[in-house]
Amino acid sequence: QEQNRQLRERLEQLKKERNAIILAHYYQRDEIQEVADFRGDSFLLAQKAAATEAEVIVFCGVHFMGESAKILAPDKTVLIPDERAGCPMADMVNVEGLRKLKAKHPNAKVVTYINSSAEIKAETDICCTSANAVRVIESLDAEEIIWVPDKNLGHYVQEKTGKKLIIWEGYCNTHDMLTVKDVVEMKAKYPNAQFVVHPECRPEVVAMGDFVGSTTAIIDYCKKSDVQEFIVGTEDGTGYQLRKDSPEKDFHFASKFLVCPNMKVNNLKKLVKCLETMKPQIYVPPTVADKARQSLERMLQVK
Ligand code: 13P
Ligand code: SF4
Repeated sequence: QEQNRQLRERLEQLKKERNAIILAHYYQRDEIQEVADFRGDSFLLAQKAAATEAEVIVFCGVHFMGESAKILAPDKTVLIPDERAGCPMADMVNVEGLRKLKAKHPNAKVVTYINSSAEIKAETDICCTSANAVRVIESLDAEEIIWVPDKNLGHYVQEKTGKKLIIWEGYCNTHDMLTVKDVVEMKAKYPNAQFVVHPECRPEVVAMGDFVGSTTAIIDYCKKSDVQEFIVGTEDGTGYQLRKDSPEKDFHFASKFLVCPNMKVNNLKKLVKCLETMKPQIYVPPTVADKARQSLERMLQVK
Protein backbone atom coordinates (compact mmCIF):
# COMPACT_ATOMS: atom_id res chain seq x y z
CA GLN A 1 0.00 0.00 0.00
CA GLU A 2 2.69 2.43 1.12
CA GLN A 3 4.81 1.43 -1.86
CA ASN A 4 1.88 2.01 -4.22
CA ARG A 5 1.27 5.44 -2.73
CA GLN A 6 4.88 6.40 -3.34
CA LEU A 7 4.73 5.03 -6.85
CA ARG A 8 1.59 7.05 -7.58
CA GLU A 9 3.23 10.23 -6.30
CA ARG A 10 6.31 9.66 -8.43
CA LEU A 11 4.08 8.98 -11.42
CA GLU A 12 2.29 12.32 -11.02
CA GLN A 13 5.64 14.15 -10.95
CA LEU A 14 6.94 12.30 -13.99
CA LYS A 15 3.75 12.87 -15.95
CA LYS A 16 4.18 16.62 -15.53
CA GLU A 17 7.91 16.60 -16.25
CA ARG A 18 7.48 14.57 -19.43
CA ASN A 19 4.17 16.05 -20.55
CA ALA A 20 2.78 12.53 -20.72
CA ILE A 21 -0.65 11.01 -20.98
CA ILE A 22 -1.48 7.56 -19.64
CA LEU A 23 -3.90 5.45 -21.66
CA ALA A 24 -5.09 2.16 -20.18
CA HIS A 25 -7.14 -0.61 -21.69
CA TYR A 26 -9.96 -1.98 -19.54
CA TYR A 27 -8.08 -5.30 -19.26
CA GLN A 28 -5.17 -3.75 -17.37
CA ARG A 29 -4.60 -4.40 -13.68
CA ASP A 30 -6.70 -2.22 -11.34
CA GLU A 31 -3.55 -0.46 -10.06
CA ILE A 32 -2.95 0.82 -13.61
CA GLN A 33 -6.55 1.68 -14.44
CA GLU A 34 -6.67 3.73 -11.21
CA VAL A 35 -3.92 6.09 -12.35
CA ALA A 36 -4.78 6.32 -16.05
CA ASP A 37 -5.85 9.59 -17.64
CA PHE A 38 -8.14 7.61 -19.91
CA ARG A 39 -9.49 4.09 -19.74
CA GLY A 40 -11.08 2.61 -22.80
CA ASP A 41 -11.46 -0.17 -25.31
CA SER A 42 -9.21 -0.46 -28.34
CA PHE A 43 -11.26 2.01 -30.36
CA LEU A 44 -11.51 4.78 -27.76
CA LEU A 45 -7.83 4.54 -26.95
CA ALA A 46 -6.84 4.74 -30.63
CA GLN A 47 -8.98 7.88 -30.91
CA LYS A 48 -7.35 9.38 -27.81
CA ALA A 49 -3.86 8.63 -29.12
CA ALA A 50 -4.67 10.28 -32.44
CA ALA A 51 -6.03 13.42 -30.74
CA THR A 52 -3.74 14.01 -27.76
CA GLU A 53 -1.57 17.08 -27.37
CA ALA A 54 0.75 15.44 -24.86
CA GLU A 55 4.31 14.75 -26.03
CA VAL A 56 4.51 11.28 -24.57
CA ILE A 57 1.87 8.55 -24.70
CA VAL A 58 2.24 5.73 -22.21
CA PHE A 59 0.15 2.93 -23.61
CA CYS A 60 -0.88 0.46 -20.93
CA GLY A 61 -2.14 -2.37 -23.06
CA VAL A 62 -0.60 -4.85 -25.46
CA HIS A 63 1.98 -4.19 -28.15
CA PHE A 64 -0.35 -3.78 -31.15
CA MET A 65 -2.18 -1.01 -29.28
CA GLY A 66 1.05 0.89 -28.68
CA GLU A 67 1.95 0.41 -32.34
CA SER A 68 -1.40 1.79 -33.46
CA ALA A 69 -0.86 4.81 -31.21
CA LYS A 70 2.60 5.39 -32.71
CA ILE A 71 1.25 5.03 -36.26
CA LEU A 72 -1.53 7.54 -35.57
CA ALA A 73 0.73 9.94 -33.69
CA PRO A 74 4.16 9.48 -35.33
CA ASP A 75 5.69 12.59 -33.75
CA LYS A 76 4.97 11.45 -30.21
CA THR A 77 7.06 9.20 -28.05
CA VAL A 78 5.04 6.08 -27.28
CA LEU A 79 6.05 4.02 -24.26
CA ILE A 80 4.73 0.67 -23.09
CA PRO A 81 5.44 -0.50 -19.52
CA ASP A 82 6.53 -3.96 -20.68
CA GLU A 83 7.15 -4.69 -24.33
CA ARG A 84 6.60 -8.41 -23.77
CA ALA A 85 2.88 -7.64 -23.51
CA GLY A 86 1.92 -9.16 -26.86
CA CYS A 87 -1.31 -10.51 -28.28
CA PRO A 88 -1.31 -14.15 -29.42
CA MET A 89 -4.16 -13.44 -31.83
CA ALA A 90 -2.13 -10.71 -33.55
CA ASP A 91 0.65 -13.28 -34.03
CA MET A 92 -1.69 -15.74 -35.76
CA VAL A 93 -1.42 -13.98 -39.11
CA ASN A 94 1.77 -13.19 -41.01
CA VAL A 95 2.41 -11.02 -44.05
CA GLU A 96 3.36 -13.93 -46.31
CA GLY A 97 0.13 -15.79 -45.53
CA LEU A 98 -2.00 -12.71 -46.04
CA ARG A 99 -0.30 -11.90 -49.35
CA LYS A 100 -1.02 -15.41 -50.59
CA LEU A 101 -4.68 -15.03 -49.70
CA LYS A 102 -4.80 -11.63 -51.42
CA ALA A 103 -3.26 -13.18 -54.55
CA LYS A 104 -6.05 -15.76 -54.55
CA HIS A 105 -8.69 -13.04 -54.27
CA PRO A 106 -7.23 -10.10 -56.19
CA ASN A 107 -10.45 -8.04 -56.10
CA ALA A 108 -11.09 -8.47 -52.41
CA LYS A 109 -10.82 -5.65 -49.89
CA VAL A 110 -8.89 -6.51 -46.75
CA VAL A 111 -10.47 -5.65 -43.40
CA THR A 112 -8.15 -6.13 -40.44
CA TYR A 113 -9.04 -6.22 -36.79
CA ILE A 114 -6.87 -3.73 -34.92
CA ASN A 115 -5.45 -6.74 -32.99
CA SER A 116 -2.71 -7.19 -35.60
CA SER A 117 0.84 -6.08 -36.32
CA ALA A 118 1.77 -2.86 -38.12
CA GLU A 119 3.03 -4.98 -41.06
CA ILE A 120 -0.39 -6.59 -41.45
CA LYS A 121 -2.11 -3.21 -41.20
CA ALA A 122 0.16 -2.02 -44.01
CA GLU A 123 -1.38 -4.74 -46.22
CA THR A 124 -4.90 -3.67 -45.28
CA ASP A 125 -7.60 -1.50 -46.85
CA ILE A 126 -9.36 -0.63 -43.61
CA CYS A 127 -8.99 -1.58 -39.94
CA CYS A 128 -11.74 -2.09 -37.42
CA THR A 129 -12.19 -2.82 -33.74
CA SER A 130 -14.92 -4.81 -32.04
CA ALA A 131 -16.73 -1.49 -31.47
CA ASN A 132 -17.13 -0.58 -35.14
CA ALA A 133 -16.63 -3.86 -37.07
CA VAL A 134 -20.24 -4.03 -38.30
CA ARG A 135 -20.22 -0.40 -39.46
CA VAL A 136 -16.86 -0.82 -41.18
CA ILE A 137 -18.11 -3.81 -43.17
CA GLU A 138 -21.33 -1.98 -44.04
CA SER A 139 -19.31 1.02 -45.27
CA LEU A 140 -17.53 -1.07 -47.90
CA ASP A 141 -18.54 -1.44 -51.48
CA ALA A 142 -16.72 -4.68 -52.29
CA GLU A 143 -17.57 -7.94 -54.01
CA GLU A 144 -15.27 -9.89 -51.74
CA ILE A 145 -13.90 -9.12 -48.29
CA ILE A 146 -10.93 -10.79 -46.62
CA TRP A 147 -11.24 -10.67 -42.85
CA VAL A 148 -8.19 -11.08 -40.56
CA PRO A 149 -7.39 -12.38 -37.99
CA ASP A 150 -10.32 -13.09 -35.59
CA LYS A 151 -12.62 -15.85 -36.84
CA ASN A 152 -15.08 -15.40 -33.96
CA LEU A 153 -15.58 -11.68 -34.52
CA GLY A 154 -15.69 -12.44 -38.26
CA HIS A 155 -18.57 -14.88 -37.77
CA TYR A 156 -20.42 -12.37 -35.63
CA VAL A 157 -20.01 -9.59 -38.18
CA GLN A 158 -21.03 -11.92 -41.00
CA GLU A 159 -24.23 -12.73 -39.17
CA LYS A 160 -24.98 -9.09 -38.36
CA THR A 161 -24.33 -7.74 -41.86
CA GLY A 162 -25.40 -10.72 -43.98
CA LYS A 163 -22.18 -10.29 -45.97
CA LYS A 164 -20.05 -13.35 -46.65
CA LEU A 165 -16.45 -12.86 -45.53
CA ILE A 166 -13.27 -14.78 -46.33
CA ILE A 167 -12.28 -15.45 -42.73
CA TRP A 168 -8.79 -16.04 -41.32
CA GLU A 169 -8.66 -18.71 -38.61
CA GLY A 170 -7.24 -16.67 -35.72
CA TYR A 171 -8.79 -16.24 -32.30
CA CYS A 172 -8.23 -14.76 -28.85
CA ASN A 173 -7.00 -17.48 -26.50
CA THR A 174 -8.73 -15.81 -23.58
CA HIS A 175 -12.21 -15.20 -25.00
CA ASP A 176 -12.20 -18.43 -27.03
CA MET A 177 -11.78 -20.40 -23.80
CA LEU A 178 -15.33 -19.62 -22.67
CA THR A 179 -17.68 -22.53 -23.43
CA VAL A 180 -21.45 -23.02 -23.68
CA LYS A 181 -21.18 -25.31 -20.65
CA ASP A 182 -19.59 -22.52 -18.56
CA VAL A 183 -22.43 -20.16 -19.44
CA VAL A 184 -25.16 -22.76 -18.87
CA GLU A 185 -23.74 -23.41 -15.40
CA MET A 186 -23.53 -19.70 -14.59
CA LYS A 187 -27.08 -19.08 -15.80
CA ALA A 188 -28.32 -21.90 -13.55
CA LYS A 189 -26.44 -20.39 -10.62
CA TYR A 190 -27.60 -16.81 -11.27
CA PRO A 191 -31.02 -17.13 -12.92
CA ASN A 192 -31.82 -13.41 -12.64
CA ALA A 193 -28.63 -12.27 -14.30
CA GLN A 194 -28.26 -11.10 -17.88
CA PHE A 195 -25.37 -12.49 -19.91
CA VAL A 196 -23.24 -9.80 -21.60
CA VAL A 197 -20.60 -11.07 -24.00
CA HIS A 198 -17.72 -9.92 -26.19
CA PRO A 199 -17.82 -10.96 -29.87
CA GLU A 200 -14.30 -12.46 -29.59
CA CYS A 201 -16.04 -15.40 -27.87
CA ARG A 202 -17.11 -18.49 -29.85
CA PRO A 203 -20.23 -18.03 -32.02
CA GLU A 204 -22.27 -20.50 -29.95
CA VAL A 205 -21.38 -18.57 -26.77
CA VAL A 206 -22.11 -15.19 -28.40
CA ALA A 207 -25.51 -16.59 -29.45
CA MET A 208 -26.39 -16.98 -25.77
CA GLY A 209 -25.80 -13.29 -25.03
CA ASP A 210 -28.51 -10.92 -23.86
CA PHE A 211 -26.14 -8.23 -25.05
CA VAL A 212 -23.13 -8.50 -27.40
CA GLY A 213 -20.56 -5.73 -27.71
CA SER A 214 -17.04 -4.39 -27.36
CA THR A 215 -15.63 -3.81 -23.90
CA THR A 216 -16.86 -0.20 -23.81
CA ALA A 217 -20.26 -1.21 -25.19
CA ILE A 218 -20.63 -3.83 -22.44
CA ILE A 219 -19.65 -1.29 -19.77
CA ASP A 220 -22.12 1.30 -21.11
CA TYR A 221 -24.89 -1.25 -21.38
CA CYS A 222 -24.51 -2.50 -17.79
CA LYS A 223 -24.31 1.04 -16.45
CA LYS A 224 -27.54 2.13 -18.14
CA SER A 225 -29.51 -1.08 -17.64
CA ASP A 226 -32.14 -1.50 -14.91
CA VAL A 227 -30.95 -5.07 -14.42
CA GLN A 228 -29.06 -5.61 -11.16
CA GLU A 229 -27.01 -8.70 -11.94
CA PHE A 230 -24.80 -9.71 -14.86
CA ILE A 231 -22.79 -12.67 -16.03
CA VAL A 232 -19.85 -11.15 -17.86
CA GLY A 233 -18.30 -12.84 -20.89
CA THR A 234 -15.17 -10.79 -21.34
CA GLU A 235 -11.79 -10.24 -19.69
CA ASP A 236 -11.89 -9.83 -15.91
CA GLY A 237 -10.12 -6.43 -15.84
CA THR A 238 -13.42 -5.00 -17.07
CA GLY A 239 -14.71 -5.53 -13.52
CA TYR A 240 -12.86 -2.41 -12.39
CA GLN A 241 -15.00 -0.03 -14.45
CA LEU A 242 -18.21 -2.08 -14.15
CA ARG A 243 -18.06 -1.96 -10.35
CA LYS A 244 -16.94 1.65 -10.27
CA ASP A 245 -19.94 2.68 -12.38
CA SER A 246 -22.47 0.52 -10.52
CA PRO A 247 -21.27 -0.46 -7.04
CA GLU A 248 -24.78 -1.68 -6.17
CA LYS A 249 -24.92 -4.21 -9.04
CA ASP A 250 -23.48 -7.75 -9.07
CA PHE A 251 -21.03 -8.83 -11.75
CA HIS A 252 -20.08 -12.50 -12.07
CA PHE A 253 -17.37 -13.34 -14.56
CA ALA A 254 -18.49 -16.29 -16.67
CA SER A 255 -15.25 -18.25 -16.16
CA LYS A 256 -12.16 -17.95 -13.99
CA PHE A 257 -10.12 -18.31 -17.18
CA LEU A 258 -11.25 -14.95 -18.57
CA VAL A 259 -7.89 -13.40 -17.78
CA CYS A 260 -5.51 -12.24 -20.51
CA PRO A 261 -2.01 -12.97 -19.16
CA ASN A 262 -0.47 -10.60 -21.72
CA MET A 263 -2.49 -7.65 -20.49
CA LYS A 264 -1.43 -8.40 -16.92
CA VAL A 265 2.30 -8.25 -17.71
CA ASN A 266 2.16 -4.49 -17.15
CA ASN A 267 2.02 -3.24 -13.57
CA LEU A 268 2.27 0.06 -11.71
CA LYS A 269 5.96 -0.35 -10.94
CA LYS A 270 6.84 -0.90 -14.60
CA LEU A 271 4.61 2.01 -15.59
CA VAL A 272 6.55 4.39 -13.34
CA LYS A 273 9.87 2.95 -14.50
CA CYS A 274 9.11 3.40 -18.17
CA LEU A 275 8.38 7.09 -17.67
CA GLU A 276 11.54 7.42 -15.59
CA THR A 277 13.81 5.78 -18.18
CA MET A 278 11.73 6.64 -21.28
CA LYS A 279 12.04 2.98 -22.28
CA PRO A 280 10.80 0.73 -23.84
CA GLN A 281 9.63 2.89 -26.73
CA ILE A 282 7.46 1.64 -29.55
CA TYR A 283 9.14 1.92 -32.93
CA VAL A 284 7.44 1.36 -36.28
CA PRO A 285 9.55 1.72 -39.44
CA PRO A 286 8.21 4.83 -41.26
CA THR A 287 7.55 3.01 -44.55
CA VAL A 288 5.37 0.49 -42.74
CA ALA A 289 3.74 3.17 -40.60
CA ASP A 290 2.82 5.32 -43.60
CA LYS A 291 0.92 2.46 -45.23
CA ALA A 292 -0.64 1.24 -42.00
CA ARG A 293 -1.80 4.76 -41.11
CA GLN A 294 -4.15 4.89 -44.08
CA SER A 295 -6.02 1.80 -42.92
CA LEU A 296 -6.35 3.16 -39.37
CA GLU A 297 -7.40 6.64 -40.50
CA ARG A 298 -10.05 5.16 -42.79
CA MET A 299 -11.40 3.32 -39.76
CA LEU A 300 -11.52 6.50 -37.67
CA GLN A 301 -13.56 8.19 -40.40
CA VAL A 302 -16.32 5.57 -40.41
CA LYS A 303 -19.32 7.03 -38.58
P1 13P B 1 -11.97 -4.21 -27.42
O1 13P B 1 -11.03 -3.33 -26.72
O2 13P B 1 -12.31 -3.71 -28.78
O3 13P B 1 -13.20 -4.54 -26.64
O4 13P B 1 -11.20 -5.59 -27.73
C1 13P B 1 -10.92 -6.51 -26.80
C2 13P B 1 -9.56 -7.05 -26.82
O5 13P B 1 -9.35 -8.22 -26.78
C3 13P B 1 -8.45 -6.14 -26.83
O6 13P B 1 -7.30 -6.85 -26.86
FE1 SF4 C 1 -5.11 -10.49 -27.43
FE2 SF4 C 1 -7.26 -11.64 -26.36
FE3 SF4 C 1 -5.44 -10.59 -24.77
FE4 SF4 C 1 -7.01 -9.03 -26.25
S1 SF4 C 1 -7.65 -10.36 -24.60
S2 SF4 C 1 -4.79 -8.85 -25.97
S3 SF4 C 1 -7.25 -10.28 -28.09
S4 SF4 C 1 -5.12 -12.32 -26.17
